[in-house]
Amino acid sequence: MHDMTVQLGERSYPIHIGPGTLSLADHWIEGLGPRSVVITNEIVAGLHLPALQHALGNHPHTVLTLPDGERTKSLANVDAIVRHAIEMGLGRDGTFIAFGGGVIGDITGFTAATFHRGVGFIQVPTTLLAQVDASVGGKTAVNHALGKNLIGAFHQPRRVIIDTELLSTLPAREFSAGMAEVIKTLLLDSEDSLRWLESHMKALMERDPRALPEAILRCCSIKARIVSADETEQGHRAQLNLGHTFGHALETAYGGALVHGEAVALGLLMAAHLSQGLGWLDATVTQRLRSLIAAAGLPTTLPSPKPGADTLLMLMGRDKKNLGGLVRLVLLHGPGQLEVTADYPRAALDLTLREFTGEPS
Ligand SMILES: NC(=O)c1ccc[n+]([C@@H]2O[C@H](COP(=O)([O-])OP(=O)(O)OC[C@H]3O[C@@H](n4cnc5c(N)ncnc54)[C@H](O)[C@@H]3O)[C@@H](O)[C@H]2O)c1
Repeated sequence: MHDMTVQLGERSYPIHIGPGTLSLADHWIEGLGPRSVVITNEIVAGLHLPALQHALGNHPHTVLTLPDGERTKSLANVDAIVRHAIEMGLGRDGTFIAFGGGVIGDITGFTAATFHRGVGFIQVPTTLLAQVDASVGGKTAVNHALGKNLIGAFHQPRRVIIDTELLSTLPAREFSAGMAEVIKTLLLDSEDSLRWLESHMKALMERDPRALPEAILRCCSIKARIVSADETEQGHRAQLNLGHTFGHALETAYGGALVHGEAVALGLLMAAHLSQGLGWLDATVTQRLRSLIAAAGLPTTLPSPKPGADTLLMLMGRDKKNLGGLVRLVLLHGPGQLEVTADYPRAALDLTLREFTGEPS
């Protein structure tokens, strides 16, 4: 098992990574407070709730099971969680336990940030995407009809328990989606990290019990380092959004036909294409990225029917990371060499959007 810490002064917290961490209840049951509310969804509950409840033992807790899917990340469901917590008598010293993928982690974290002006929560992520990314760093959010993650808060978990055995039931498509964030994180870190990924890609896709926890540890360590330096994204942390401004626009445009990780994979390719078009990025890096994305079983071209370039541009303009109306993007000079900027020719962005949407420029 790997143990690491996200260093954030008094808000620092441990992450436990490895097979079977969930059952090591003595690691984490202390400090839960007098009672907890577990938030999960119908799929995860059906597969893994008994394991979590076994680990919780006699600790007083109730379970709220939400529907599956991105649409669950809504204010209406925040209300449902708050109602349940009040009815169950959860006080300021209670704890929310997020047991699911990024959707459950995000909505539970957001509710924990606001309930009683902030209560503790624990992340027990059950998808690869949530284990390598969403459960760490304290970004929480729900969606609005007009866009993803538009209502949110920074609220760090008290602890993250990453049990890699939970991934055994993850469908291939969701595993691939998580690999998109693995690729993103190791690409934004360094050439060495990218090489490590290239040499372990096959093992990772086979869910190798040694390679998988190592990849998760690497991703969590990289993310923790960046978050420690810039918790609320005043600067450096924006790097973690590599591929995400394009990705969020795609996710909204496809209305659920693409899962988050698939949209991120395509967003990474679009960011690389634009960086290359600006003369910043060597074509070999784009090619290596494309190979990794294909090896992960992720799309390298937009599925049909494709959205229009103008639609994507409009959706990117709505991204909350934009400053002063400019579409701010994370672009690449090479592995580990990023630039967060709105200072690029608009025509270059148009060209990338048209290239991917197949519209004549
Ligand atoms: N807060 C952050 O920093 C951050 C970072 C990245 C993504 N996100 C958010 O995370 C969400 C995407 O997360 P996700 O990809 O985990 O999606 P998800 O939570 O919808 O999970 C994907 C699917 O896998 C199922 N599932 C979960 N665990 C399973 C298991 N062990 N076995 C079988 N099926 C399982 C879920 O029920 C769901 O159908 C998006 O809303 C995105 O905005 C947040």
